[in-house]
Formats: sequence, C-alpha cells, structure tokens
Amino acid sequence: MITAKQLTSEEKLRLICGKDCWHTEGLEGKLSELFVSDGPVGLRTVRVREDGTEETIPAVGYPSVQMLANTWSKEIARETGECLADDCIERGVDILLAPGVNIKRHPLNGRNFEYFSEDPYLAGTLAKEYIAGVQEGGVGTCLKHFCCNNLEYDRLHQTSDVDERTLREIYYVPFEIACEAKPVSVMCSYNRVNGTYASEYKKGFDVLRKEFGFDGAIFSDWDAVRDRAAAAKAGLDIEMPFNQKNYEKLCEAYRAGKLTDEELDACVQRVIDLVSRCKEIGKTARVRRSQEERAAAAQRVAAEGMVLLQNDGTLPLKKNGPIAVIGCYGKPDTVDMIRGGGSSCVEWLNRSFDLPAQLEKQGFAVAYEGAFRYDGVNSNVQDARRAQLLAAQSDVCVVCVGTGLPFEYEAGDRQTLRLPAVQESAILETAERCKNTVVIVFAGGAIEMSAWADKVSAIVFAGQPGMGGDKVLAELLAGTLNFSGKLSETIPEYLEDTPSVQSYRSAGVTRYQEGLDVGYRYFETHEVPVLFPFGYGLSYSAFRYGKLELKAKDEELEIAYKVENASERDGKEVSQVYVCECAPLVYRPKKELKSYAKSEIRAGESKTELHTLGKRAFAHWSTSKDTWEVTDGIYEILVGASVSDIRLSAKVCVQDGKIRVL
Ligand code: BGC
Repeated sequence: MITAKQLTSEEKLRLICGKDCWHTEGLEGKLSELFVSDGPVGLRTVRVREDGTEETIPAVGYPSVQMLANTWSKEIARETGECLADDCIERGVDILLAPGVNIKRHPLNGRNFEYFSEDPYLAGTLAKEYIAGVQEGGVGTCLKHFCCNNLEYDRLHQTSDVDERTLREIYYVPFEIACEAKPVSVMCSYNRVNGTYASEYKKGFDVLRKEFGFDGAIFSDWDAVRDRAAAAKAGLDIEMPFNQKNYEKLCEAYRAGKLTDEELDACVQRVIDLVSRCKEIGKTARVRRSQEERAAAAQRVAAEGMVLLQNDGTLPLKKNGPIAVIGCYGKPDTVDMIRGGGSSCVEWLNRSFDLPAQLEKQGFAVAYEGAFRYDGVNSNVQDARRAQLLAAQSDVCVVCVGTGLPFEYEAGDRQTLRLPAVQESAILETAERCKNTVVIVFAGGAIEMSAWADKVSAIVFAGQPGMGGDKVLAELLAGTLNFSGKLSETIPEYLEDTPSVQSYRSAGVTRYQEGLDVGYRYFETHEVPVLFPFGYGLSYSAFRYGKLELKAKDEELEIAYKVENASERDGKEVSQVYVCECAPLVYRPKKELKSYAKSEIRAGESKTELHTLGKRAFAHWSTSKDTWEVTDGIYEILVGASVSDIRLSAKVCVQDGKIRVL
C-alpha cells in the first residue's frame, strides 16, 4: 500500500475529494476506489444507466431503524447488520452509509424513522451491534451524522446551539458507544454546531479521535462542505461527492499556504488507511444468508419491533366472526405509504403488502374497505360511507392508518404529529359504530393519538414494518406470534408537551434550551403526563418482577433480579435499569437508562437478569472540571417494565468512587 509521502501534492488534494457520487478517488489505480451506498434500512445502491439516468437496484426492505430500536434486542441489531453486510457483498459495496444515531430530540424530525431513540444509551448500544454485524460480515460502516442534526428543517444553515454538558451526556453518547465497534468511518452532518459547520467541527472530531478511540476516516455528508480547506484543517478526510468548485478552491487555498502539508498528509494518510482497513475487513466477506433468509430476518425485526400499546382483550383476534379491515394502509397502493423518503428509501424486492389477505391466511373471514385514499400527498375521503356501513355490521374492526413517505422524509420535517383529519375521522367513526375497534398505526415516529386513543379497544404501533410486515402483523393480531416490542421514544399526549417545540423553526439558531431534558428525561423529571411512556409495550404474556439483589464490587455494581412469566403464553420481556441520583449537586434528570435486557421466558418460568453498572452509569459531565465525575452520595437503582412502570428499587452509596449497597 502506498503512503502519503509517495504521492504528489496534486494527487493528495484529489484523494481527499471523492471521485464521484458513490466512489472514493483511486488515482488511476494507485489505490482501490471504495464504493459506498446508503443505509440504514436496506441497501440503496444507485446504478447509472447507459443514458446517464440513475436507477436504484431493488434490495431487501428492512423495517425502519425506529422499529429496530423498538425490539430492544442486541441480537436482532447484530443480525440486521450481518444481513446488510450480505446485501452489500452481493453488490460490491465496500462501505454502508449507516447507521445514523442522531437523538430524537423533536418528534417532528423528518428523519426520525432512520434513527434509534431519544435515549443515547439505547441508540448507542444497538448501533454498536449493528456496526459489529456489518463489519464482521466483511463490509465497512459509516456512522452518521456527527452531530446535532436533530431537525431536517433548514438543515444546511441551522446552528444547533447546545451546551457542553448536554453534548457530552446526550448527543455525543451514541457516537461514543458505537465507536466501541470501531466503525471504519464517520459522516459529519449538514448543520452547524454552536456556530461552526459540522464539516469543520475540529473540536468534535478531536473528541471522536482522541477520546472515543475512533481511528477511521471522516466523510462529509453529501455536499455538506462549505470550505474544503477549512474542513481538511479540522480533520475531515473525504468530501463527498466530488465537487469541482470546492476542489479548485482547495487547490488555491493549498497554494496560498492556508492548508499545510502536515494537515493535508494527515487526511491523506487516513484515506489510505481507510482503503487498507476496508480491504482487510473485506477478506472475511462472504454471503452467509440467502436473500430469503435476509427477508426472514427483516420480518423478525418487525415481529419484535411492533408495539402493542393498548388492549382491552380484543387482541388476539377471535375466530368466531368476520373481521373488517378499514383504511387503505391495510392494503397500500404503494409501499411508499409505509416507508420513509430520502437517501434511505430502499426499492423493495417484494412490494406486495396486503393485511386482509394475510389475516385470511391466519384463518379469518375478512372484509376490506379503503375508507380514505392516499394520493401521494394527501389522504382523501373515499368510500367512507361504505366503510362505516361495514363497521356498523362488524363485531371487530381493524383500522389501518399512518404516515409514510410524503410526511416522513429527509430534508423536511412533519408538519404535525397528528394523523391527517380523514384518518382520525375514520378511527372515530368506526369506533362509534363498532365496539371492538383495533387501530394499527404505520409510522416512522411518534404520532399524537390523544384525539382517539381512549375511544378504541386496542392500538398497535406497526411502524414502518418493511417487506413481509403484513404477514408478521397478521400473526401478531391472530396471536400466532406474541408482542415483545417496547417504545424507543415517548408518545406524548400532545406535541406541545415536548420541550423542544419551543425552539423549532427559529431563524437560524436552534437553541437546545431544554438541555438534558430530552424525551423521557423531561417528562419524568417534570412529571408531565404522556400517553405512552418510553420503554412501554404490552404483550399477551404477563411478567412479574422478583427481588432486586445488588452486589458492589469496588467500582462496579452487579444487579440481579428475576422476571417471571406469570401467564400461559410464552413471551419475551424487556426489563430496564434506570439510575437516579438522589441529592445531586448539579441538575440531573430523575431517571436515566443505564442497562436493559430482553429475554424469552416460557409460560410459568422465570429468568434471572444480570447487569453490571460501571462508574460511568453514575457519572455526569462536570463543566467545572471538564471531565466525567461521580458525585459522592446516594443513588437509586430502578428496575422497570418501562420508565414509568418501576417494579423494583434499591439504593447504593458512592464514596470516593467506591460503591456500597445500602
Ligand atoms: C444524507 C446521508 C446520505 C447521503 C448519501 C445525504 O443527503 O444526509 O445520510 O448517506 O445523502 O445519500
């Protein structure tokens, strides 16, 4: 492999700019070109046809990342990564532009479907497994978007105005944890961070490299670079895609001495190292699962990512009468209705999605009425009268509503957290006529449900369920499968309850004035009621939590408790460990997720869950000392079925870093 020293200055300047939209520069064969493709919910490989137009090659359509996070399953996150590696290998892709770990600070963010969670620990730990899965499969990853790109509105200009402690405790954390899996690259975001373009965010890049152990190359987001020389000085290694004007300006700046040889060589060497690293990783590349097996894995994400939010016993559906499916999301005209838009929009290999047909396969007699139509922009009333006649005659109605691509997409945010009015009417009118109304919500992020939630019997958050999600949903509704997903983001009562709405669509400066109070950290601390809390989800099983046992081992705390399946259904339970500092010297949210476990527990059986908390689980970022600090004092360990359903608790005392159980 060549070194930076063996290249001319002109070659070096070329090397730190991409070759085209999807390849890094190869300098006429001196170095291998790397082929990169999006991520994260499937492979979006773009092929240029002979006439110059582009086409996207169909691939396995996985459920949204939000659903992956709803599984709370590290195994599933890893398996998804492994499957994506196979997808990449088949297409010759060297680096998958995924995963994205931006925090869901604002529920309207158009890209929330691509991101994991409002909680940095959940986002980071799942992303770490995803990255390990892809890279162990023989393909590189690109962890994105660094950082504080938490809105799509005006994303090229907005500056995220965020204090150091909040950066450290919320926005950096998913990157920090994900970096433990050694992603080969990171992508910067479009926005500015405290006034500096993310492509020139040296301070952040230094944190990645010097503190988080990141040793790969930093890519720009596509067209995110304003000043190539300034970005290179900051440590941004590759600008994507190639931009002639930026390249010319870079050369000028270099000739004018504005970029030193040392600075240029540092970027060049990292590009060379990236190529060798990808080649090294690629040695283990071999397709391990067939496309069918990957499609089955996508269905596992859906099966564990759908969340049962409410159920008065109507679910599982009983086979003693016909079922009415109402609402065109049950049988979408286009899968765009059940996926998000933008760079992560995958062309599904199999585009059929038919819930009524899948329910029939489960042995139900099903009648279907679209009730409203979706014309690519709006939901229009259609056949509403026929739907309501059907509802009046039916014992059970399954109403399918949702958002999809025109509402949830890159480069724009949702306008409202509510469903379109025709969809809310379809729910309310059905519920008036049919006492057993089940609502299925297909969306990539939180939906405001307060206008109708208490009028219906059951609610299922079916997310953006990916290929084969219709089959999975039918099996869950029929009880062939059991629900085990839990919310990775809070569903507030009203959008206005979320603190980040205060600074939305501001003129250029987005103040993160809520600080650490993102998502449940705010709702729990300030006792603001929510409709469905973070970490919440029902199942057909019922779980009892046993005694909490704590054992302190120097600087670590070992936690053990039993979870018993006190029902007649086998099931899976996600239990969550939160930490609360009882009398802090600095502000601390009341509960913070520090560990979680998901286990399959057979009916009547129990499982002991074990967790180890290190020092960091108790620490806050001290702005007076510029480091993590554990304050001496009392901490409460809270074990719950959700953030607001705490089943077990106990206290520990920390003194001089040593933990003692009280
Ligand atoms: C997105 C990235 C994506 C890139 C390449 C950008 O617009 O923000 O997430 O990887 O395009 O498609």
